[in-house]
Amino acid sequence: MEDEVLVSYSTGKLHKRRRQCSCLPVVCFTSLIVATCYVTFMYIFRKYSPVESDFDNEKFLYNERNFINLISVREFKLAQPPAPANSQCDLVDENEKFDCFPESDASQMLCEKRGCCWSVPKQVKKWNPIPYCYFPKDFALYKFVNLTVADFGATGFMKAVYSSPYPNNIQLLKIDVKYETETRLHIKIYDPVNARYEPPYPEVPVMNSAAKNTQYQVDLDKTKTGFRVIRKNDNKSIFDCLNVGGFIFSDQFLQLSAKLPTNYIYGLGEHRSDLLLDINWKTLTMFNCDQPPENQKNLYGTHPFHLAVEKGGKSSGVLLLNSNGMDIRLQPYPAITYRTIGGILDFYFFLGPTPSDVIEQYTELVGRPLIPPYWGLGFHLCRWGYNKLDNVKEILEKNQAAGIPVDVQWNDIDYMDRRNDFTYDKVNFKGLDKFVDDLHKKGMHYVVIMDPGVSGGEPNGTYPPYDDAIAQDILVKDFTGNKPLIGRVWNDKSTVFPDYTNPKTVKYWMEQISRQQREQFKYDGMWIDMNEPSNLVDGSLTGCPNDTLESPPYVPAVVGGKLRAHTICMTAKHFKGYHYNLHNLFGMSEAIVTNFALTEITNKRPFIISRSTFVGQGKYSGSWTGDNVAVWDDLYHSIPDVLNMNMFGIPLIGADICGFQKNATVALCQRWYQLGAFYPFSRTHNSNDCVAQDPASLGKDVIDSARKALTIRYRLLPYLYSLFWQAHIKGDTVARPLFFEFPSDVQTYSINKQFLWGPALHIIPVLTEGMTYVKGYLPKARWFDYYTKKEIVNTGENITFAAPLDTIPLLVRGGYIIPTQDPANTTTDSRKNRMGLIVAPDEKSEANGILYWDDGESIVTYERNQYNYLSFHLSGKTLNSTVDVWKYKTDMLLGSVDLLGIKSSVSSVVVNGQAYKNFTYMSDCQYLHILNLSVNMSQPFVITWS
Ligand code: GLC
Repeated sequence: MEDEVLVSYSTGKLHKRRRQCSCLPVVCFTSLIVATCYVTFMYIFRKYSPVESDFDNEKFLYNERNFINLISVREFKLAQPPAPANSQCDLVDENEKFDCFPESDASQMLCEKRGCCWSVPKQVKKWNPIPYCYFPKDFALYKFVNLTVADFGATGFMKAVYSSPYPNNIQLLKIDVKYETETRLHIKIYDPVNARYEPPYPEVPVMNSAAKNTQYQVDLDKTKTGFRVIRKNDNKSIFDCLNVGGFIFSDQFLQLSAKLPTNYIYGLGEHRSDLLLDINWKTLTMFNCDQPPENQKNLYGTHPFHLAVEKGGKSSGVLLLNSNGMDIRLQPYPAITYRTIGGILDFYFFLGPTPSDVIEQYTELVGRPLIPPYWGLGFHLCRWGYNKLDNVKEILEKNQAAGIPVDVQWNDIDYMDRRNDFTYDKVNFKGLDKFVDDLHKKGMHYVVIMDPGVSGGEPNGTYPPYDDAIAQDILVKDFTGNKPLIGRVWNDKSTVFPDYTNPKTVKYWMEQISRQQREQFKYDGMWIDMNEPSNLVDGSLTGCPNDTLESPPYVPAVVGGKLRAHTICMTAKHFKGYHYNLHNLFGMSEAIVTNFALTEITNKRPFIISRSTFVGQGKYSGSWTGDNVAVWDDLYHSIPDVLNMNMFGIPLIGADICGFQKNATVALCQRWYQLGAFYPFSRTHNSNDCVAQDPASLGKDVIDSARKALTIRYRLLPYLYSLFWQAHIKGDTVARPLFFEFPSDVQTYSINKQFLWGPALHIIPVLTEGMTYVKGYLPKARWFDYYTKKEIVNTGENITFAAPLDTIPLLVRGGYIIPTQDPANTTTDSRKNRMGLIVAPDEKSEANGILYWDDGESIVTYERNQYNYLSFHLSGKTLNSTVDVWKYKTDMLLGSVDLLGIKSSVSSVVVNGQAYKNFTYMSDCQYLHILNLSVNMSQPFVITWS
């Protein structure tokens, strides 16, 4: 039994009690109403006794009536709900029909047995998504037996009055409503008697005080079920499940439906779709899976979080913090249904009111993203199937010779000896250690793949990762809890899986990494792949038992039709519980342990890219979008994929440039390198059965295109890095949809073929073969062409941008100042170059920008005050800087300033009080270019012109 820190709202005190605590016996202690109570009480008391209890605080919540109710409900066999009256069925509009029979074998008889309405739509076309079997108005399986509203929120108990069709209905439920902050509300519905599984990650803050001036209020009504969350300033309900049918809380089927405030819903990953979700009866299944990105399939990660944007821009967000497999259904009311197969219903609501505010509030709860090392923002070269170190060298050299900036060389499983973790192929990759040392000497970095499972098929005593895992007893066990679960991934015979939820695994994983770094080669980052976890056999080599964990009463619409498809048995045992509950956390737990291990070993910022992700993982790793395909549609889809992960607080994200599967073409790669240069994480990678697709292998056209786009990326890295810092401290997105910056412009709500870096850089890629122009929408603002510097006449309509094959249209937004640095072929070299500023005025000739700068690799530089922070301001004809923090000693010189939108001719420029001659003014583009500067940026500067 584990201890849990709880908060007393009346006293504001923190106190500890056991997770399985119920304080109901406390009241019974003072009551002698029921004679048998004492015996029962002693039983329950022993089982659920608090370590420390706060009698006064709890008293008002647990009166003797409740206790008696508790006893009676525990003994009471629930009846099925009665058949509904026709009138209650007729009252339900089509879009309001919540599905009462999500299983495939619905019939009128079975439907009515559930107390639900059956109606076959009159015009049955091919397939009608509107449920035939739906909940009648006012359908309720629970009713409140106690509801106490207090300053901190509310607490209530709900008692089951009817049975759901699923076994083991929880008969007494507790609902805790907590006003956590002014903009964050927490509503938790759980079993107060028997502790149920709750995800151990992410660690969410335990609040020791309640917020006062909340932007929300919660409607609870003792005579109804559910609740409604209302935004106070306009009385709008942002999540309404008050008397919405279908609330079910059984052991393996928990369901809650709610009406939403808008049709504009985003998030709910990880799925392949447009950015704006289709709410037309669409199910989004969440169960981490080694599934290449395809529509309607559960992919590698789980993020039961959505952002709702109302016309006009007011936005809110909802997280269901639950790691069990689940289906989330959207319907056009608009409404949402959560159907999860375990855990509890633990909701957080974020009041925004802007989309960015919602993400900031979300990441404040689940964890702010890490700030990657600066080199991690360079370009990464990777493929599966170099097969020999000589090929790695040759391809790297070819690209460098072609002028492609490269910071990081990667290797996939072909560097390993028979694809076993912590080994390398000493024949084909002979000299890998020297190669990596040489990379380091050139200021480059090296990242290797690591699969989460280690080989289980090596002779005893020959493979330390297995021998140590057995000796230290850290492997995931099969259902017996005694033997390791044996699956098979890339290894020849079998694979066993370290249990990353086991604290002992931290030491184990560190030892394996340290040994490899000591004895083999020193990589700088880890690519943790296959960690859904993927398994090439379903379950295990010896099968899985047949029970309700393997085959629950309701199976979400997972790829493969069963939970263990392509993964390990649900009955597998981890330190923190059954795989059934922890499955979606496997990748996150590996990322947490790897992050810790790399930080300890290298004493530098860890660089980790994980395929599988869960809520809050951006604190520990970045990710990529998995095994995409070298086709134009996947080029497009990479944009919503990248934007979604930014909304989930994982800004270090990119897609495999040029596609992972299938042979890429020159035309596709020309465009993909351009777009990929603007992924926050920019890497080319493909499969071992495809032709090489690095720029140099594809010839001049791709080289020219990639070099041009990547060189711009390198120039803009100070801006990108500053955005990552803002994400780290504030929870901002790095790559963001247009509506984040223009939330009141409805036209932006569905745009996902254009996107922004921060507030200031607008990227409009070509996504169609053969096109040399692209149409884009410009929200109301001043916009300047990045290349020509000319202001674009913004008609507010779709505008056509010239896009020659080697060019990706880029615009700079008026009102912003973008810090830049002269590019080089690595970030180690570019960081020595002079800085620049691109200054784009708004209508009032004003602009602002910032620069965050540190050594780019030490840990917690911001937290330790080892950084520089500068702000830049344009007002009229004066540009100046403020040095807010200068704690990182470095030489930093401003070399150039690009001033856009300068309408009147410039004949003189003054820098820090001295006339400066080195400038050009181009009247046709209204562009003032001040060059060859040498301004010390550690001091404030002033530049004026006339
Ligand atoms: C998985 C990864 C892919 C990698 C391959 C071999 O499919 O998603 O990126 O190349 O495994 O390791």
